[in-house]
Amino acid sequence: MKIKQSHWHHFFGGIALILLIVQLLSGTILALFYSPHLNEAYASVQAIYNELGAVAWIRDTHRWAALFLLVAVIMHFIRSFLRKDYLIRDSKTLWLTGILLYLPLFGFLLTGFILPWEWRGYWFMEMVPNSVAEIPLIGSFLSQFLMDFFTLNRAFVVHVVILPVITLVLMDIHAFTKIKKRPGGLSAYLIDHSPLTVPFLAVIAVLAYTLPMPSQDPAIIPMPLEGEYMPTAEWFILIFYVPYLYFKGFMAALFSIYIPVIIFLVLALFPYFLKESTFRERRRHEADTRQVTASAKKIEVFAKIMAPVKRVLGAKIYAKTLGVMSVTLVALALFGPLYAVTYESPTMGCNSCHNVSSGIRLGIPPETFKDRIKNPTLSDNKFMVEHWFYPQVVW
Ligand code: HEC
Repeated sequence: MKIKQSHWHHFFGGIALILLIVQLLSGTILALFYSPHLNEAYASVQAIYNELGAVAWIRDTHRWAALFLLVAVIMHFIRSFLRKDYLIRDSKTLWLTGILLYLPLFGFLLTGFILPWEWRGYWFMEMVPNSVAEIPLIGSFLSQFLMDFFTLNRAFVVHVVILPVITLVLMDIHAFTKIKKRPGGLSAYLIDHSPLTVPFLAVIAVLAYTLPMPSQDPAIIPMPLEGEYMPTAEWFILIFYVPYLYFKGFMAALFSIYIPVIIFLVLALFPYFLKESTFRERRRHEADTRQVTASAKKIEVFAKIMAPVKRVLGAKIYAKTLGVMSVTLVALALFGPLYAVTYESPTMGCNSCHNVSSGIRLGIPPETFKDRIKNPTLSDNKFMVEHWFYPQVVW
């Protein structure tokens, strides 16, 4: 089957769209079995694993597809950025909505992490208000508001109604409006893109099968660090908390909140501050090859060294290879540290102390979980984050 040039153009965007649909379908099935109550949530997840193997697999698909979706949209962003898509006059709105779409995605990750309400979910729920509390002026108010507002049921409604609607509206502006104008509309677009997505879906299916989230209380209690170096889909979000391992107060907030927020705002808005003359009119496919060759020329020494390679490969393949390599390098720089850090978080270890047989307080999240006076360690970010990564040391 010949894949149209325009589909490679937004290869990762197309994959992201299909993964979004996978999430919608798998999430709908999960919602049928999940119970958003403090005492029932984890039990309902465990029941899926004990009684409904196929649904358990769908749950793990939902987790791994979330990771792939995140990777796909980041790659889609890197590609668009390197290709300077923001310079295309009629694409400013596409750029802005594209960046804004990261917000609901982030919201999905936050709420999705909390919903199972085991100790990991509980820990995470406590860390969200903790981290916003660091923001000056509005921080303590925002933190208190999140605490008061939080119920598992509300987190569930945010996850399955509010965020999907926001995503749909943004996606409509970002992609659907344009896709609908193509011959065959959305369905033709999806059918054209599906073959490209098949390898990714296959990998997700296998990962979901071979690396499920350990959700049964194991018969043999694990050691605190067990499950370290076990890849899990959702730990990447811990990257925002890693600074608390090394810093306190302002410095921690700098790395985990301010810098990410500033990067986000700059990326979202900078095309609006560029001079009009820098924009070019949309010309299809123009960008790809020429852009890459042009930027390569700037680095003349590099070009000279690479000249023989270029001759052997031919200019076109050489430019493509260079493009693919630069994307890979940027991706490695982004995902490498993230992988290194989150890989070390114990996945099953929490159950060694926090399991049902340890009873109320240690086995079941305390009923007073919102009360920082009764649970003082909860306000101590350093304790909380260290406790996650090295539970055996801190407790
Ligand atoms: C070695 C046993 C042990 C392991 C393993 C362990 N914890 Fe804990 N955890 C404790 C103890 C003991 C406390 C109470 C500390 C205190 O209140 O001073 C605690 C406190 C907590 C708290 C604070 C809330 C509270 O009720 O005090 C959270 C949240 C938490 N653990 C989550 C986790 C998570 C998530 C993991 C896995 C990454 C984990 N724990 C692994 C023993 C453990």
